[in-house]
Amino acid sequence: GKVAVLLGGTSAERPVSLMSGQGVLEALRSLGVDAHAFDPAERDLAELKREGFARCFIALHGRHGEDGTVQGALELLGLPYTGSGVMASAIAMDKVMTKRLWQSAGLPVPRGLVLDGAHHRREDTRSVPDSLGLPLIVKPAREGSSFGVTKVQGYSQMQEAVNLAAGFDADVICEEFIEGEEVTCAVLGQGDDAVALPVIRIQAPDGNYDFEHKYVSDDTRYLCPSGLPEAEEREIQRLVVQAYRLLGCRGWGRADLMIRARDRQPYLLEMNTSPGMTSHSLVPKSAQAVGLDYPHLCLHLLQAASL
Ligand code: DAL
Ligand code: MG
Repeated sequence: GKVAVLLGGTSAERPVSLMSGQGVLEALRSLGVDAHAFDPAERDLAELKREGFARCFIALHGRHGEDGTVQGALELLGLPYTGSGVMASAIAMDKVMTKRLWQSAGLPVPRGLVLDGAHHRREDTRSVPDSLGLPLIVKPAREGSSFGVTKVQGYSQMQEAVNLAAGFDADVICEEFIEGEEVTCAVLGQGDDAVALPVIRIQAPDGNYDFEHKYVSDDTRYLCPSGLPEAEEREIQRLVVQAYRLLGCRGWGRADLMIRARDRQPYLLEMNTSPGMTSHSLVPKSAQAVGLDYPHLCLHLLQAASL
């Protein structure tokens, strides 16, 4: 039947989603799938039903796309969709809730604290470096692609960083900075059948893996196979599968982590339940490393679509 590739949307990550969606659309078509682009920012999701779509590939990122809301609407319409269901999507979109869940299960996460809307003023933000040390990371609780993220180096930068993050979400999360290297690890499947793909090591110029170095420039190096010691690679994969199952994810997901330089301890930062599928994105690289090319990755995810 007809397949809708949901793309665009209204979040700050709209431009990224347009790239992901275009890639998925072309890939599915190349395999003979009758796929059509559908932008929920421009059209009512109820039209999916009226136009006879049989299932949806969600290539939306961020709020109103990756956060359970679109998933809920598709549940009501009875249209199977790729990726996680309502609850896992909603929790994973929220870095505060995700951390609480992982922390309560004993998984390693950076120390952090949350500033809600009532605590964005200078007198509340000033004490944050005292408890977390410097540098520290300030970011919106529910955002992606590095929007609103600052690595704070000194007290004087705190307020500006909080204001920036608060422009994206009333809840702002502050975390100790884990000095080390950035890695990512994707998972496919569900529950006991969830399996990790190979770890990717990300080497951005000056360790600065920001929006520019994620999607625009070509000077970020991605190592996959990672070249990490076998035991370290396995440990990260084990950790990420556990983190994925705890959130109740299904279909696919990608966890982002830091490995602390001084003791090689991995720290979980977040889970992306609708990972980027742009030409620069990570999941396609790790799937390719196990012989799953981009079009067949898309087809695999589509075939696992469910309600
Ligand atoms: N939030 C972006 C799309 C990613 O994690 O790939
Ligand atoms: Mg993210």
